Amino acid sequence: MPTESQSPHLPFGDNTRAAWYGQDILSVKQFDRADLEYIFGVAHEMRGMVERIGTFDLLKGKILANLFYEPSTRTASSFMAAMQRLGGSVIPINEVKYSSVSKGESLGDTVRSLECYADVIVLRHPEVGSAAIAAEAASKPVLNAGDGVGEHPTQALLDTFTIFEELGEGQIDGMTVTLLGDLKNGRTVHSLARLLTLYDVKLNYVSPDILKMPQEVKDEVAEKGIPQAEFTRLEDVLPETDVLYVTRVQKERFSDPAEYEQVKNAFVITPEIMQSAKDEMIVMHPLPRVGEISTAFDTDPRAAYFRQMEYGLYVRMALLAMVLGKA
Ligand code: NCD
Repeated sequence: MPTESQSPHLPFGDNTRAAWYGQDILSVKQFDRADLEYIFGVAHEMRGMVERIGTFDLLKGKILANLFYEPSTRTASSFMAAMQRLGGSVIPINEVKYSSVSKGESLGDTVRSLECYADVIVLRHPEVGSAAIAAEAASKPVLNAGDGVGEHPTQALLDTFTIFEELGEGQIDGMTVTLLGDLKNGRTVHSLARLLTLYDVKLNYVSPDILKMPQEVKDEVAEKGIPQAEFTRLEDVLPETDVLYVTRVQKERFSDPAEYEQVKNAFVITPEIMQSAKDEMIVMHPLPRVGEISTAFDTDPRAAYFRQMEYGLYVRMALLAMVLGKA
């Protein structure tokens, strides 16, 4: 625990009856606007604590099992850093080829084993719905860190927190958010489009024809009464955009390599293209990028993608503290 003088004005403490205690985080559909206000409030306090004291003991003695069946740099390491900044520790399982999974163990059995040693499980898996299957098997909280082309709820939370921190809390209503790239296979945009329906936004989808936003997501957005429109040319919407969210063409999801080759360089953000965008806007990307944003744009103040990663640390600290009953 932080000492008295370092303690933030938050309900940090033993709070095991708090609403989030023991909960799974599987989909953005489980959140309402009040939840986001709460999460972002805690994340904002976490930011202050990290800036002031770096590491503190809110989750001292707690253990996270970080179970990754797909590659990850940011998500895996930010969950590890989040747990360690809160004084907890981590069992990292990145190379499932070295674990019993490679012997044919089911996901359910793997998570039931891990929860014998850990208090919370973070899971990334190539199949849609895998996080829900894991949560069904486990009695400890499971956090979905990406289930195939399905959802990536903690990324959408950190993306929305980034917009709040960068462009001003309360400003999100009235914004135009443009999602660009592989909208078919990108789980981050599936989660983000759904989560942003909690606000009064306008959504633009810009992609090659074969990589359009899935109908299921568009139907859900339409049901919430959020205006959305599809484009194939970025120029048509860039001047009105407040948040440009760029994504990588998800090579690993293509069954036909020739199809990937056709669309891989469909959009490249350069300083020249960005001349027609507003001065007060941000460019985001969940990363990794593979050429869709030119490095020449990195020094532009509107380039928010590396700051976005840092916001991810604070949001994941908040989520871990919440599901473990400490916030
Ligand atoms: C994304 C993912 O894994 O879905 N990365 C991330 O979590 N930051 C995006 C991607 O891989 O393109």
